[in-house]
Amino acid sequence: MRPPGPGEGVAWITGASSGIGLALAEAHVAHGWTVAVTARRVEELEALSLRFPGRVLVAPADITDPAAVRAALAPLPPIARAILNAGTYERDTADTFTAARLARQVDLNLIGTAHCLEAIMPTMIAARSGQIGLVSSLAGLAGLPGSASYSATKAGLIALAESLRFDLRQHGVGISAICPGFVKSPLTAKNTFPMPFLMEADAAAKAIMRGLDADRFLIAFPEGLARPLRILRSLPYGVFFPLIARGTRG
Ligand SMILES: NC(=O)c1ccc[n+]([C@@H]2O[C@H](COP(=O)([O-])OP(=O)(O)OC[C@H]3O[C@@H](n4cnc5c(N)ncnc54)[C@H](OP(=O)(O)O)[C@@H]3O)[C@@H](O)[C@H]2O)c1
Repeated sequence: MRPPGPGEGVAWITGASSGIGLALAEAHVAHGWTVAVTARRVEELEALSLRFPGRVLVAPADITDPAAVRAALAPLPPIARAILNAGTYERDTADTFTAARLARQVDLNLIGTAHCLEAIMPTMIAARSGQIGLVSSLAGLAGLPGSASYSATKAGLIALAESLRFDLRQHGVGISAICPGFVKSPLTAKNTFPMPFLMEADAAAKAIMRGLDADRFLIAFPEGLARPLRILRSLPYGVFFPLIARGTRG
């Protein structure tokens, strides 16, 4: 399927006030797109719009509120590409696991993303064009130590993208599951454990744009982490568990 280009509508990026989302907005502007940016911190979004006059449409919303998402989208021009990136990570293990922590991450990472999806899919389906990227994580490809709740939400996003892809292809709409490894951002700045292959947000944004421009379904990077993880994932659990445990011991 031919992915949309900058002349065919705006790129809508959620979670664009910092980290990967901010870098994605900058990269899209650099490639000729007009971007619509959503997050809760309006002043961060406005600062971005001042840097790129006329190229950044500020559309603030808390994506856990479906009415706020609809209100933010209402004044925007047609969306050609939506990158649903807003999300959070709270570390947990079997010792610290609580349903409340899982619910907070489900509310934002899964249900918040679903509010965005339900707001844009009908228009894209009717227009028989458009492209959607769901920002999951390498931690969504497998349940990794220290991310029980987070992995559950990010695996859910991959399953959501896989299932929707069957239908969306019939309607001429593209969808991708985006699985970054460790990326420098306010989210990872609080991590105290080793983060192999830690990359800059700009490099992550470029990898995501390359994947979307090529209409790849799974956009998983960096290669040095994504490839071994995908191989391990396909092995029997008798091999998977000890190798992952050894590889993640900090
Ligand atoms: N950094 C990594 O290593 C890494 C790896 C894999 C996947 N990811 C995923 O990449 C995405 C971006 O993460 P990041 O590392 O760039 O973290 P970040 O800098 O903390 O960015 C998170 C973004 O989400 C927005 N957000 C949070 N709650 C929101 C809400 N209720 N409504 C609307 N926007 C909300 C934040 O803006 P406001 O606070 O202004 O609302 C912010 O713009 C997340 O989905 C994360 O899980 C990150």
